[in-house]
Amino acid sequence: MIDIHCHILPNIDDGSDESGKSIQQLRRMEEGGVSQVYLTSHYFRGHYHYSRADYDSKLSLLQTEARQAGLHIQLHSGFEVFIQPGIIDDIKEKSLTLGQSKYVLIESELNGLPTDFYQNVYPLLRAGYKPILAHAERYVSIMKKPSRARELNDRDIYIQTNAGSLIGHYGEKVRQTAWTLVNNGWTHFLASDDHVRMDYGVYFEACDLLAQRIDAKTCNLLCHDFPKAIALDEKIPYSYVIVHKSHHNHESRPWYRRWFG
Ligand SMILES: [Fe+2]
Repeated sequence: MIDIHCHILPNIDDGSDESGKSIQQLRRMEEGGVSQVYLTSHYFRGHYHYSRADYDSKLSLLQTEARQAGLHIQLHSGFEVFIQPGIIDDIKEKSLTLGQSKYVLIESELNGLPTDFYQNVYPLLRAGYKPILAHAERYVSIMKKPSRARELNDRDIYIQTNAGSLIGHYGEKVRQTAWTLVNNGWTHFLASDDHVRMDYGVYFEACDLLAQRIDAKTCNLLCHDFPKAIALDEKIPYSYVIVHKSHHNHESRPWYRRWFG
């Protein structure tokens, strides 16, 4: 499994406040079967103040500490970028992508995507970036009308769903919305959004639920195959639910053909 969204890098945003806790959480992840993780610290211009060099040195220090602790989990750089006017300049200048890829994890205002949301995202698409909207199911506008997620897909925006959403950690409405996104194939990634405040087991619990309620293949796509494509900077399909037509074609033959031919 590969987790593309968490706040485990210590002392940089509102995530982990101590490297010992981060190592403990990384151990829990590795023991459960997570082999790679993107440490997506919040990037919110004017709110969190750190330089790219500061981020890189913290990441490299944590990777060294993880090795010293006997862990093999691979740490990738990443950011959760708050969409603001002109954010494309920061993304270009500081390479605020997931690892070396063109995929960018983005977020906006949870109480409703602002009217200029698309206007601020389109420059990313035009520049060849591949935006992924973090925890789309937590947005009020998507809770009110989940098919808005499909509109995002239609505009070349991928979607990531939080493990805790599927379990009900953000309330019943978010839980229902998350399952609607999964059922319709509108979400592409299941991630923890872990802040080192609770048991990482929630992620594994959500993976199991996904495999039980949908199927193992979908679980594999969302927890492994699509996240792996990021590291390889490969294209991920916006639409991936394949409907097998042959069965329907057979059934849709006229009744007289089914009876006599
Ligand atoms: Fe996050």
